[in-house]
Amino acid sequence: MHFGWWTDDRTAVENAAEGKAVRPALALLACQAVGGKPEQAHLPAVAVELVHNASLLHDDIIDGDPVRRGRPALWAAKGVPAGILAGDALFFAAVSALADAPRSQSTIPVLLECVQTLIGGEYLDTLFEAGIGVSEDRVLAVAAGKTGELLACACTLGALAGGADPKRAAHLGAFGRCLGVAFQCLDDVLGIWGEEETTGKPAYSDLRSLKVTVPVAAAMAGLTPEARALRALYHGDRPLSEDDCRRAVDLIEQTGARTRTLQRARRYEADALEHLTLACPAPVPAAELTALAQMITQRDR
Ligand code: FPP
Ligand code: MG
Repeated sequence: MHFGWWTDDRTAVENAAEGKAVRPALALLACQAVGGKPEQAHLPAVAVELVHNASLLHDDIIDGDPVRRGRPALWAAKGVPAGILAGDALFFAAVSALADAPRSQSTIPVLLECVQTLIGGEYLDTLFEAGIGVSEDRVLAVAAGKTGELLACACTLGALAGGADPKRAAHLGAFGRCLGVAFQCLDDVLGIWGEEETTGKPAYSDLRSLKVTVPVAAAMAGLTPEARALRALYHGDRPLSEDDCRRAVDLIEQTGARTRTLQRARRYEADALEHLTLACPAPVPAAELTALAQMITQRDR
């Protein structure tokens, strides 16, 4: 159900709205970038996609978001225990996938360490809800933890599967980490200005729950009347109403935080591409990784 392959009553779905599969694509391309064949990275690609979906199942419960990919989130359809346990099952399936792959002694610790960082990032994120005075740098550090780390892991595992030496694997990992922060900046922008039908997520969900995302932190940082008004809106301990959300959107826009967040994403993309160059990738996968990086900072879903 979570993947959209089956309806609630177990009918197979054609053309289901699926995820973007960014992480498995990164694993396969990182493997090819260091001279490996894509099939060498099949199991690492599966593992990172499973961890990603495990983390989304838990994240929707934590955020109280009832919709994912335009469908009811698993917890909303089947209950919180189902969401927690399905997430746990996917996580352990990911570890099993890596255990069945070559070089598991070096890849499993990378995945486990990554998941610890994801958990740390997600926990910090929950502490930021309604957190007045949370700096943009701290929000970006959380983005690096909860999102950057899994993209870094996808690239590192792909590179290791392709036989990369530690230096190349580290540069590809850094490429993924920077790209992950750019990805989260876009995610936060789309959470405010994205079209619900395109993103598949409820509009204003982050604002309603007083989440301090990158554009919100950027907007609150200033001394302008708009920044002060936004801080005042966030100061209450109740979820924002629909009208409050619309006002918050206007205020954030007026501070210029939307543009600044998009520029920031482009800077992280540029940093990512520098690391890609330092990894001395093969030309064709390098071009595809570059295109993927551009897609991430220009996407609308
Ligand atoms: C989405 O963020 C959430 C993440 C990127 C990471 C969530 C991590 C965990 C729940 C810990 C790891 C757990 C397991 C089982 C591996 P978001 O809420 O900003 O994005 P959204 O708008 O897509 O919900
Ligand atoms: Mg969420």
